[in-house]
Amino acid sequence: MSTRTVTSVACANIAFIKYWGNRDESLRLPANGSISMNLDGLFTRTSVTFSASTQTDKLFLNKTSIHGPGLDRVSAMLDLVRGMAGTNQRAEVISENNFPSGAGIASSASAFAALALASSKAAGLDLSERDLSRLARRGSGSASRSIPAGFVEWQAGTDDEDSFAVSIAPPAHWQLADCIAIVSSVHKKTGSTEGHAIAKTSPLQNARVADAPRRLDLCRRAILDRDFDALAAIVELDSDMMHAVMMTSSPALHYWQPASLAVMKAVQQWREEGSPVCYTVDAGANIHVICLEKEAEQIALRLRKIAGVKDVLTARPGGSAKVIEQKQIVE
Ligand code: DP6
Repeated sequence: MSTRTVTSVACANIAFIKYWGNRDESLRLPANGSISMNLDGLFTRTSVTFSASTQTDKLFLNKTSIHGPGLDRVSAMLDLVRGMAGTNQRAEVISENNFPSGAGIASSASAFAALALASSKAAGLDLSERDLSRLARRGSGSASRSIPAGFVEWQAGTDDEDSFAVSIAPPAHWQLADCIAIVSSVHKKTGSTEGHAIAKTSPLQNARVADAPRRLDLCRRAILDRDFDALAAIVELDSDMMHAVMMTSSPALHYWQPASLAVMKAVQQWREEGSPVCYTVDAGANIHVICLEKEAEQIALRLRKIAGVKDVLTARPGGSAKVIEQKQIVE
C-alpha cells in the first residue's frame, strides 16, 4: 500500500486590526473581523503522513515528541480532515518553526495554517484557499489569515461557511517591515485561547466590537492607499483598545512589561519627529514596530539601544501558505 508525505510552509502574521473574543468558541467564529500582514521571515514547516500502520496520531515539534493538550489540538484538526476525506488513518506530524521557540513569538497562526494545508493534501483533498482558511481557523483563529498572501482580511462572517480570510493586497504592494522588539522570552501565563474566552467579561468589549467595522475600513483603506500616517493612527488605536479589554477582563490580563511601554513611548516620539513608524502588541510583552522596509535596519538599531530590549527580529510582508514537497511512500 502506498501513502504520501506532504510538507508545507506557512508564515506567522501580525494583526493590524486584532481578533479578540469569539462569538462561537468551538467553531472559532470571531467577535469581529481582523486584518494582518504575513511575516516573511518567520514560518513553520510541517510534514504530515497518514498511515495504516500508525495506531495513534504523533506530533514532533522542533524535534521533541509532544503529548497532552498540544497533541489533542493537532488531533482535533486531523479529525476534521479525516471526516472530509473519509479515512480513519492516524497521522505523524513533524513541525518546525524557523524562529526561536523561546522568543515569545506566537506560533499557532503559522503552525495551524501549515498543518491545515499539509494534512488536507496528505489525505488526498485539494481544498480551495477559502476552505483551507476555514480549516486553519478551526485550529487557531489567527491561522486563517496565514493561508492567503500578503495583506489579509479575515471576514468575521455569520457561520462556519463564510468566516475565512482573503488577501486584500499582495506582499509586494507595500514595502513595510515588522521589527519585533523582544523584551521577554517567557511563555505567556494566559494564552490567547483562554483570553478570548474571558473577553466578554470586560465592559469595554462590546464597544470595541461595535466599532470594529469602522477600524477595519480605515485600515483596509490605509493599506490600499499606502498611507502610513492613517495606518499608524488606526493600528495603535486598535492595539490599545484590545489591551484595554484585556486589562479590564476578569481576571485582568496585563501583558505589557516596563520595557514594552518604553518601546511604545519611543516609537511615538520617533513618529512625532517625522519617522513613519508605529507599534502594535499581541497577547505578550513583545512590541511589533511597523515601519518602511528601507528604514527597518535603522529602526532595529535604535530599538536595540532601549534598555530591556533583548533582541530584534525583522520580517517583511510574506506570501501564502505553500506545499513545498510531496513524497510517495510504499508501506
Ligand atoms: C492577540 O489566534 O492565537 O494575536 O484561536 O485561540 O488560537 P486561538 O487564538 P489566536 O489569537 C490571536 C490573538 C492576537 C490578535 C490577532 O492575532 O488577531
